[in-house]
Amino acid sequence: MQGPMMDNIFKKYLEGKSVRNIDFKVFEPSFVPNKMPHRESEIGILVDNFGKILMGGMPKNVLIFGKSGTGKTAVMKYIGRELEDASKNRVNIRSIFVNCQIKDNSYSIFETMGNSIEGEKIPFTGWSFDRLYAAVKKNIDMYNGNIILVLDEIDRFVKKNGDDILYQVLLLDSELEKSRITLVGITNDLKFMDYLDSRVKSRLNEEKIVFPPYTSEQIYDILIDRVNIAGINDFVSEGALRLISSLASQENGDARKAIEMLKASIQLAISSGENKVEEAHVFSAKNRMEYDAIMETIKTLPVQTKALLLGILLLRESGTIQFTTGEVFEAYRNVANGANLPVLTPRRISDMLSDLDSLGLISANVTSLGRYGRTKMIEINVSFTDAKKVILEDENFRGLKATPTMKQLRFNIDH
Ligand SMILES: Nc1ncnc2c1ncn2[C@@H]1O[C@H](COP(=O)(O)OP(=O)(O)OP(=O)(O)O)[C@@H](O)[C@H]1O
Ligand SMILES: [Mg+2]
Repeated sequence: MQGPMMDNIFKKYLEGKSVRNIDFKVFEPSFVPNKMPHRESEIGILVDNFGKILMGGMPKNVLIFGKSGTGKTAVMKYIGRELEDASKNRVNIRSIFVNCQIKDNSYSIFETMGNSIEGEKIPFTGWSFDRLYAAVKKNIDMYNGNIILVLDEIDRFVKKNGDDILYQVLLLDSELEKSRITLVGITNDLKFMDYLDSRVKSRLNEEKIVFPPYTSEQIYDILIDRVNIAGINDFVSEGALRLISSLASQENGDARKAIEMLKASIQLAISSGENKVEEAHVFSAKNRMEYDAIMETIKTLPVQTKALLLGILLLRESGTIQFTTGEVFEAYRNVANGANLPVLTPRRISDMLSDLDSLGLISANVTSLGRYGRTKMIEINVSFTDAKKVILEDENFRGLKATPTMKQLRFNIDH
C-alpha cells in the first residue's frame, strides 16, 4: 500500500479478503442447499415415497428420526421444494411446514393448514374447534390435491399436548373426498412414540427413516460444499475445515454446530484482518461459542439460582477459591436479602447447587472434615467477572450494582 493509507487505522480492513462481500446467509440454519451430501439414501427413500403422488398413487406417512444437526429439517424442506417444483402443471402438491415448538397447539396447526391454501380465511384464534375443522376440511377438499403436512419437532408437541392433533389430522384425511394429507413427523426423541395411542402410532410409523450422525469426513464434504456456495474456497484453509469437521464429529456429528463454527471462524479471521481462515481461528471460534453458550445459560437461570450463583461469585471475588456449603448458604442469604428476594431453605439451596453443578457452572465435591463430618466444597468453573456482569444485568439485582464485593455487600446489609 502506498502513500497516506500506510498508517490509516482502517488499514487491516482494506487488505485481504475483508473487503469482499461474503454472503453469510449461506451459513444460516435456514439455508437449504441444492445438494445434500451423505443423505442420498434417505433422500432416495423420500423421493420414492412422494414420487408416487406424481403418478397418481398414495404416499405413506413418514416418521423421521435423528439426533440434532443430522439434516432432518433441511432434507424435508429440500424434498418439499423439489416436489412442488416437479408437480407443476401435473398435480396439486403443497408442502406445509410446521415448527411445533412455535405452533404448539392444535388450533394453530389447523389454522396454518387451512390458510396455506386458497379458500376461507381462518382467524388466528377465536373459532370453536368444530368450526375450524369444518373450514380447514372445506379448503383442503377444494384444493383437490395433496397436502404434505410436516410436523417438525413433533415430540415437543406430543409431550405437551398429547397425540390428539395426530388423531384429528388422520381423521380429517379419512373424511376428505378430493384431497389427501400425508403426515411427516420429525423428531430427535424416539421415546415420544410411547406417548402415542397405538392406532396413531401405526399410522404415523408407516415409513420410519433414521438419520445417523455424520462422521468427520462427511462433515468435511458438507463444509466444502458450503464454502464453495459462498464462493470463498480460497479463503478457508483445508486444515481449518478438517479441524472443524473433527471437532463437530466429536460433538455428536452435528452439521449445524460445524457450520456455525465455520461461520464464526470466518468472521474472526475477517475481523482480525487476515487473508485466510486457519486452525487458530477455529480454536478461538470454538472458545467464543462455548463462552457464549455458558453466558446464555447463566442469563436464563431462574432468579433464585442466579442469586445463589452471585453469592458464590462474590465469595470467589473476595479471594477464596473453594468454599463450604455453609459459606455458600450465607453468601446466598446476603444476596437474597440485598435483592429483596425471599430466602429459600437450605434444602432448596442444596437442590439449586446440584443444578448448577450439572450445568457445569460449578463443581461441588463432598469432602471429609474429620470429626466435624462431611461437607461439599464448591468451586466455580466460569469467568467470575463475566458471569457477575451477566447476572447483574437482571433487573432483580439492580439494587446490588453498587455493591460489587462480598465485603461491601455484608457491610450494606449489616449496617
Ligand atoms: N447432508 C447435508 N448437506 C448439506 N448441509 C447439511 C446436511 N445435513 C445438514 N446440513 C446443514 O446442517 C444444518 C443443520 O441441519 P438441520 O437443521 O436439518 O438439522 P436437524 O436434524 O433438523 O436438527 P434438529 O434436530 O436440531 O432440528 C443446516 O444448516 C443444514 O443445512
Ligand atoms: Mg430440525
